[in-house]
Amino acid sequence: MALLAPPIPSQLPEFAQHYLSRTKQLYIDGKFVDAQSGKTFPVFNPATGEILAEVAEGDVADINLAVAAARRAFESKAWSGLPPSQRARLIDKLADKLEERLEDFALLESLDNGKPLAVARVADVPMSVDNLRYMAGWATKILGDSIPIAGDFHAYTRREPIGVVGQIIPWNFPLLMAAWKLGPALAAGCTIVLKPAEQTPLSALLLAEIAAEVGFPPGVLNVVPGYGETAGAALAEHPDVDKVAFTGSTEVGKIIVRAAAGNLKKVTLELGGKSPNIIFADADVAQATQGAAFGIFFNMGQCCTAGSRLFVERSVFDEVTHGIAAAAKAMNVGHGLDARTDIGPLVSDEQLARVTGYIESGIAEGARTLSGGARVGDRGYFVEPTVIVDAKPHMKIMREEIFGPVVAATPFDDPNEILGAANDTVYGLAAGVWTKDVSKAHKVAAALRAGTVWVNCYNVFDPALPFGGFKQSGWGREMSHNALECYTETKSVVVKL
Ligand code: NAI
Ligand code: MG
Repeated sequence: MALLAPPIPSQLPEFAQHYLSRTKQLYIDGKFVDAQSGKTFPVFNPATGEILAEVAEGDVADINLAVAAARRAFESKAWSGLPPSQRARLIDKLADKLEERLEDFALLESLDNGKPLAVARVADVPMSVDNLRYMAGWATKILGDSIPIAGDFHAYTRREPIGVVGQIIPWNFPLLMAAWKLGPALAAGCTIVLKPAEQTPLSALLLAEIAAEVGFPPGVLNVVPGYGETAGAALAEHPDVDKVAFTGSTEVGKIIVRAAAGNLKKVTLELGGKSPNIIFADADVAQATQGAAFGIFFNMGQCCTAGSRLFVERSVFDEVTHGIAAAAKAMNVGHGLDARTDIGPLVSDEQLARVTGYIESGIAEGARTLSGGARVGDRGYFVEPTVIVDAKPHMKIMREEIFGPVVAATPFDDPNEILGAANDTVYGLAAGVWTKDVSKAHKVAAALRAGTVWVNCYNVFDPALPFGGFKQSGWGREMSHNALECYTETKSVVVKL
């Protein structure tokens, strides 16, 4: 598979040249500051493997400062004490500014993560804007209940902000994950320390810049890039953090839970997946084939919802798998800024090694590639979109999250037995069902143990829809009013009449 060559740095758009050449500092208490240690860390361009930028490296000392700033902002009620409509107004302004700067954010996201610029323009940035706007609307609608109880009492509940929250996010949708987390926390009146992934801290830092411009009070939003084992761990275990929200690997999710035990901070988790995508023979097969390809290849497969286990009714198995293989072969692999690119690089050399390692392990265990399977080129972190067949349920590629453009397809004969196979996973984030039979669609949707089920579609998200995992895919829900609940405490007030 041929690789489209990346542009040389001097050909980058002016904003990117300017932004990348500037010092990138931590954002704490309304100011951009160096790390206490004075250290910086390199951020790589995944299309070339070269250093894209140096960023101040937050560590325990910086997390302590950021948490203290967030605590002061919380206790002073500089944020939670504003009239809800003013909180809404500021979140809206942040969304407006983000929309104005869409092109700059899309560019940074593409350079930092590797994803096609065209995708960042139509998905990452507008969806982030949408999420902030949706959550701004909730700021004025956080209600308690008036509850009739026995005796001469007036009883009611109040929903109050949880307090200082730590938010640790991954690199697959850096800006969108920040927006998913910040929106409900800000609407609820919490103050925040956000730690972006070490692979992709740039868009969160630009977001901090525009938050400062629109006038968020100091300390309400702090952004501290750094490594997980240092900055992330310090935030998760900090005794003065009231809640930690995490998106990332299930392995680190478990570490977060243990770290949170010290002060029993509240925890929400959005973790990995091994989502089943089931195509019945009575589906619109062409549409299902296209949907299955999108379900696994979107964002180079670096989606927690990736439809990585494809189950296809035997009579249409060859048609579907050859269709996906053909779609894969037709995809252009290249640099995110090239308009022809369908598949960009994976985010890091670590992910490249992980994904190619899974493909090799599948083949070693007896599976076979119908298309793809190899690294593309010898610089940057590119992998061919890959279709694997003959995988068995016990194989690692069927059990563990690959997080790359790799789908394992399995035929089935008995539609009644497919649910057992589909639910045979420790994960439960998402699932897909393709059929024209309405009754079957709803029955299967009900039987799948997953937080989201897509019927005749895949990867459809909306800020109004709860998103999260069953089983080891997580705790709590993001987006929707459910997310707000995860950033508030309920207080019962009882008044003797
Ligand atoms: P990770 O779980 O290590 O990283 C996610 C975030 O957690 C980053 O901000 C990282 O700095 C932070 N982190 C790491 N160790 C930490 C610790 N001990 N304490 C606190 N924070 C910590 O994920 P990684 O290593 O980048 O990717 C490994 C695998 O995780 C991927 O191959 C994929 O399977 C899965 N993953 C799932 C994501 C999802 O959206 N559910 C997103 C990213 C990765
Ligand atoms: Mg890790």
